[in-house]
Formats: sequence, C-alpha cells, structure tokens
Amino acid sequence: MVAAIEPFHAIAISRMAHELAAKGRSIIHMEFGQPSTGAPAAAIARAHEVLNSDAMGYWESIPLKDRIARHYAEAYGVRVAREQIILTCGASPALVLALTSLFEPGDRLAFARPGYVAYRNTAKALYLDAQEIECGPDERFQLSAAAIAALVPAPAGIIVASPANPTGTIIARDELAAIVDVCRRRGIRIVSDEIYHGLSYAEPAASVLEWDSEAVVINSFSKYFSMAGWRLGWIVAPAGLVDTVRARMGSLFLTPPSLAQHAGLAAFDCTDELAGHVETYARNRAIMLRALPAMGLREIAPPDGAFYVYANVAHLTGDSMAFCKQLLADTGVAAAPGIDFDPVDGGKFIRFSFAVSTPLVEEAIERMAPWFAARTEAMMAG
Ligand SMILES: Cc1ncc(COP(=O)(O)O)c(C=O)c1O
Repeated sequence: MVAAIEPFHAIAISRMAHELAAKGRSIIHMEFGQPSTGAPAAAIARAHEVLNSDAMGYWESIPLKDRIARHYAEAYGVRVAREQIILTCGASPALVLALTSLFEPGDRLAFARPGYVAYRNTAKALYLDAQEIECGPDERFQLSAAAIAALVPAPAGIIVASPANPTGTIIARDELAAIVDVCRRRGIRIVSDEIYHGLSYAEPAASVLEWDSEAVVINSFSKYFSMAGWRLGWIVAPAGLVDTVRARMGSLFLTPPSLAQHAGLAAFDCTDELAGHVETYARNRAIMLRALPAMGLREIAPPDGAFYVYANVAHLTGDSMAFCKQLLADTGVAAAPGIDFDPVDGGKFIRFSFAVSTPLVEEAIERMAPWFAARTEAMMAG
C-alpha cells in the first residue's frame, strides 16, 4: 500500500493569500520559512557571468566542496575531507539520501514533535517507523539526552535540528554533546539538520560533527544564504557511508543545478550582505517578542535562531488551520498552522516567519494587534 502523505497545510494558506492578493488585497507573507531578500548580489553577478560561458552540464563543483570543507574547519574546528561532501538539490533531497543510506524500511526514526513537517512525511514515504517525541515548552520544544535515553527499545536513528523549525530553539552545546554520548552508547545513528546554522541571536549553534564523526549532516543554501529557489544543499557523510550516499545521489537526483553551484560558491564570500540579513532578523525577532505578549500570546519559546516564532493560541482556538484562514481573511497576514508541525497539539499553535523586511513586521503587528484584542475579548465574553 502506498504511504499516505499529507500536503503542507501552509501551502493552502499561501494559495489563499495569493488569491486575495490577485483581488487587490495587501498581503504580508509570514507563512513560509523563506527569506524575502533573494540571493546575495555577488552570487547573482556570478550567475550572469557563467550563463554565457558555461555549458551547464551535469556537474559537481570541486571548488564548492572545498569551500564547504573550509567552512567546517573555520566555523566548528572540524576536519571534513572534500570526498565526504555530496552536493544536493537542497536539504530536502539530502534528507532522503541520509535516511535511505542509513536505514531500512521498518526501522524506527525518532524526532521532536513539534518538528519540520518533512521529517514525518519523508519517513513515511520511505516506510520508516516515525516516532515523534513530544517536546513541550519545558524542553524548549527540543529533544534531550534524557528523552533519548528513555526510549525503549532504542530507535535506529534520530533527527536533531538546532536551530529547529518551527520554534527556532537551539540545543545547548553540553546537551548536544550528551545526546551524542547517549546515541553512541545505544547504537543510535544521528542525522543532524543544520539548515538554520548561521542564523542565531546569541551563541552560534554547534555542529554535531564536533563530537560525532559518524553523524550525517544535512545543510542548504536556502536559509542563511537566502537562495531557496536555487535548489542547492549538501550532505556531510562519514567516510564509510560516502559511496552509499553518492550512489543514491547519482540515481535519484544526478547533480544539483550547475548555475546554483557557481552562484553558491560566490555566496560564501558575501559575508557582509548576509550579516545584514541576520541583523534584520534580529530586529524583527525583538519586535515580535515585544509585541506578541502584548497581544495576549505569552506562551512562546523565544527563538535562539532561525526566523520563526511558534505561538500558543490555545486560549483562542483548537483549530489552527481555520484560525490562520480567518487571520488572513481579516488582516491580510499569512501565518502557518501548527498542524504542519505537530499532528497532536498543532491545532493550538501558529507559526510566524519573520524573514521579511522590518517595516512589514511592524505593519503585520499593527494589523494583528486589534484583531487579537477583539478575539480575546470575544472569548472572555463568551
Ligand atoms: C528544518 C528544515 N529542514 C529542511 C528544509 C528543506 O529545505 P531545502 O530543501 O530548501 O534546502 C526546511 C525548509 O523549510 C526546513 O525548515
């Protein structure tokens, strides 16, 4: 029987937002986790340059792999060989490669609930036994070494994501080290989704590779580098798994776009422009964290990284999808329903992405404040 996969519900919100925009409504898109900024200028310039000179065949850029390897040395003090890096068409195919290279159908794969919707859906599509671990506000919505130690029997693998989607919370360094330790003792393989690295507001996130050279890391140009539509990412595979991953990449996806690889290499040198994006997100985050509690949304785990706020709206609704539709219809602000990230409690949460300009965040707050006040009043009255 073919595994049933639910669509991303945020897509339905986005579709509705575009329909309203086509009718002339002013819409603020906070439903998807994608930067509104576009690729860095030097990456675009490089793409223009090579379009005229490169045949754009199947290609794996050795300079890009070397640049990524250098990044691991510089950012984390970790030695990664060029051969361990497999370029992919984003983190999504990287996740498929990681899971099919490590696990067999029926193997148990544990990850946090709430979590990124594709973990659940990809595990299902690959006939893995997805075990979603409830992680509430007390755990800052993250897996812990204690929670993994308590899993009986031990799963074949876990996915860690730090910073996480939908909450932006980061697993502290010593906790990540403890997770690696318990996984090593229990024979649990680690897939670390490090797609939001580079986007943190206090301490930078640690890579699992700092403790575990056997972990599989996935990453992408979609978030920090602001290049979601270029479809470029990578895997770092342990030496013993490289051939397995490469064979799957060749058969399932061949190579990522040549143009994106040229541009991606140039993007690594755009540090000032990219730091500017992080400054904007930090400003937006501060505005959201000030404004949301005043709107009655007090139960939020302040995001340490990424560009999301996951807000508890249980005092107003148990149906986050209907709630997001109404919010959009009334205010033009599009947000993602929690049911994308949590099939059990997601009806009580919504996620805002603040990867938009600061004036748009301010405008969104201005529109939402009276709407939330009216809803709160109506709930109290009724
Ligand atoms: C946690 C996480 N992992 C992976 C992805 C997939 O990203 P991409 O395939 O664009 O690299 C996303 C996208 O939003 C995400 O939030």
